[in-house]
Amino acid sequence: MSRPRDEQSKEERDRRVLELWERVVEVEQRLIPTGLHVFGRASGERECADLLRAVASFDRPECGARALHDLVSEALGLGPYERLITDKTEAGWRARARVDEEVRACVELFLREGTAAACELLQKESGVDPAESRKVFELLGRIREQLGTSGELEGLARALRGEYVEPGPGADIVQNPSVLPTGRNTHAVNPYAVPSHTAYERAGRVVDTLLARHRAEHGRQPRTMALVLWGLDNIKTQGEGVAQALRLLGMRPLRDSLNRVTEVEPIPLDQLGRARVDVVMTVSGIFRDLFGATMLLLDKAVRCVAELDEPDELNPVRANVRARVAEGVCTAEEASLRVFSNAPGSYGTNVNFMVMDSQWESADALGDLFVTRKCFAYGRALEGREAKGALSRALSSVEAAYQNVDSFEIGITDVDHYFEYLGGVSKAVERHAGGRPAVYLSDALSRDARVRTLPEMVRLETRAKTLNPKWYEGMLGHGFRGVAEIESHVTNTFGWSATADAVDGWVYEEVARTYVLDEQMLERLARLNPHSARSLVARLLEAEGRGFWEAEAGIVERLREAFSDLEDRIEGVA
Ligand code: BEZ
Ligand code: MG
Repeated sequence: MSRPRDEQSKEERDRRVLELWERVVEVEQRLIPTGLHVFGRASGERECADLLRAVASFDRPECGARALHDLVSEALGLGPYERLITDKTEAGWRARARVDEEVRACVELFLREGTAAACELLQKESGVDPAESRKVFELLGRIREQLGTSGELEGLARALRGEYVEPGPGADIVQNPSVLPTGRNTHAVNPYAVPSHTAYERAGRVVDTLLARHRAEHGRQPRTMALVLWGLDNIKTQGEGVAQALRLLGMRPLRDSLNRVTEVEPIPLDQLGRARVDVVMTVSGIFRDLFGATMLLLDKAVRCVAELDEPDELNPVRANVRARVAEGVCTAEEASLRVFSNAPGSYGTNVNFMVMDSQWESADALGDLFVTRKCFAYGRALEGREAKGALSRALSSVEAAYQNVDSFEIGITDVDHYFEYLGGVSKAVERHAGGRPAVYLSDALSRDARVRTLPEMVRLETRAKTLNPKWYEGMLGHGFRGVAEIESHVTNTFGWSATADAVDGWVYEEVARTYVLDEQMLERLARLNPHSARSLVARLLEAEGRGFWEAEAGIVERLREAFSDLEDRIEGVA
């Protein structure tokens, strides 16, 4: 018997409200920069609280401290925090909100009154054993002290005088708090240590989530994926991107007697429990320079999978290689190339410059530029041989593209590099596979290994940053440079339209309303930096002109007027 209609619609309404709540909390909890970093200046109070909370949300086995969120959740009898993250019921959300609130309150109290007060509060409110929470606050205390100082100016002065600068690891504070104090000589990573055990572990969860997400939306897992690997990302995460590639292929790293990762071995299909995924890797110039040994390892992994005696439907690498050879267009050697980068000594895709300079007429030009720049094959004594046909053929079977976002500080609209790489490869796939790939990203630092589609990520970045008064007021506080930063966010967002058609029309409309149609705001921008203000308006008009949004006629008219006023102002006519 079917349930009464109003009961169903009430359930439907509750589900929608919960979904909306999840979105709002997601935007609220997103760590965002509230202004630019000023060289030599230590972080402020608010920034410090946000960072400490993020640090406390992870286990820190190196100092015996567990994640505060787990301590609180377990002490309240709610089980591991991980479970609350995945529980999408109202009860789950309420439980999670309660834990988050306890953590927020105790970190704030810690900042005002210190460790003893914070431990006491946690014991009273949630029953957390002070012996456990003390370890966390002792760590937070050390970090807070280091965040309150900046060694940057002193470090720079020492370097300029040719003096010794103490070394320090390169990472994100949340990922590895021992990057503090600042101002040290950042060292990278030992490529033979990549991927670390932790990176391989985490990559397993991300890959499972990624494939599940694709299955849910496309009915099956992708047979071939394009991956973007960056150097800094793999330094910070000890090779999480590399580990993801191995996991997708169904391979595991092996360590030699010196604990160096020099070999890989296949995970048998019955252990893997799914088909392998073919991966086309485009790596940055920085990655190529730093991770020579890793490129060899990845190339070796692909060739090993191509030679496994397994059915085509479970081993698309072998199937793809055999199909290319059967077409008579290339050798098996050529057909198994999967690691591509720039020519030796060259960096970047230049797709960002083509977009920013409005230098393209047909969208194919962006994909073609990507391939021209990135078609140099690495691995097995290749050292960057040009292989345009091989990259084009490899891309022709790609169904999904993916990249890690490696830090809380820099997201996909903060810099032009995400769209030049991930957007660029997506455009190149569109050109060679004849269809647009699904595009995914994940936060390397999130607790829940969450995978988002590109349009979801663009919406989140837009709401958490570009349209968020907390973000833009922070930027405007920096005057000239702050306006340039706002303009650059709009242009980077535009880059996602140009390369992947991943931006909803409302994004441009709200940007127009926030920065141009609001006369007071436009006047502020124009006074602080008329050049960037003009570029922002021009970009909105270009987005409309290229059909990335359908603006109301009245809005276009006002944008044109604003553009012409800004021109006059810059030329001194007004
Ligand atoms: C990298 O870490 O490889 C990278 C950084 C910035 C832009 C492009 C690549
Ligand atoms: Mg740059």
